[in-house]
Amino acid sequence: MPAMATAAKPETTEGAQPRHQAPEVFRYYELAKKQEWQVGDMPWNDLPPIPESKGGEEKHARRRDVWRSVITQQLQADSLAVEMAAQLLELARHHDAKLYYSTMAQDEARHVEAWLRLIDAAGGPTERDPHLDKLAQIFLGLDELEEKVFLMQVFFEKMIISRFRLIARSSRGTVLEDLCNRLTIDDGIHHGSGMAYERVLLREASKKTKDKMIKGAQKMLPIFADHVLWRPKEREFVSSTMRSRDLARVRREIEEGVRIAASLGLDVSDIEYTIP
Ligand SMILES: [Fe+2]
Ligand SMILES: [Fe+2]
Repeated sequence: MPAMATAAKPETTEGAQPRHQAPEVFRYYELAKKQEWQVGDMPWNDLPPIPESKGGEEKHARRRDVWRSVITQQLQADSLAVEMAAQLLELARHHDAKLYYSTMAQDEARHVEAWLRLIDAAGGPTERDPHLDKLAQIFLGLDELEEKVFLMQVFFEKMIISRFRLIARSSRGTVLEDLCNRLTIDDGIHHGSGMAYERVLLREASKKTKDKMIKGAQKMLPIFADHVLWRPKEREFVSSTMRSRDLARVRREIEEGVRIAASLGLDVSDIEYTIP
């Protein structure tokens, strides 16, 4: 049992469940503190920001635009994550969870700082992903804590981890790879803490709340698929083989999300989503 969780005194009246304690989530607070890093720790002076391509001027410029658009999308996602983490910090009903979210809000802000520096080093941002803006509206507009934790941490944070692995694999020996490796670890903690807190919250959640969570997932997943499959003009040339690989991947990810939801006791198996 974590020291702080046992030391804290219940705020509720005697005999009632102390609502501010969630030792399952406090563990993630300690883990987040241990894993904390600084933007200055990144190899800014030792590695190129993005992969350097050989070949002519035109090919070089086109490759650079692809990386700029990849970074722009992640910068946009992490800016949304800052707002979400701030909402979770404010809405959390347990002291332990608030402590944890204070670290998550710092993580997301640090991620934005790193992406901002990287996009500058790579030549500046490109166009925004409209599907991500739509997802942001859904996430930020949800009115219950249970739904926010479920959609943002249980689904989104999990799915974004595989994006980072993919980007890291194709950008070896760059600052971009270094950042993606850091984010894989951070978002692993964000997802794990969300699972832990959702379990705490679901112990007391009503059927109405659970139904709302499932409806939210049904609304969000097709937009998530659009987001993953979206190609800005810099990446329009993606071949049809790559697109069918992307489609298969997004299907696998959604199936995994459904399995994770089922492990929380939520049946989202009849989620109907249409791949564009
Ligand atoms: Fe992040
Ligand atoms: Fe995150």
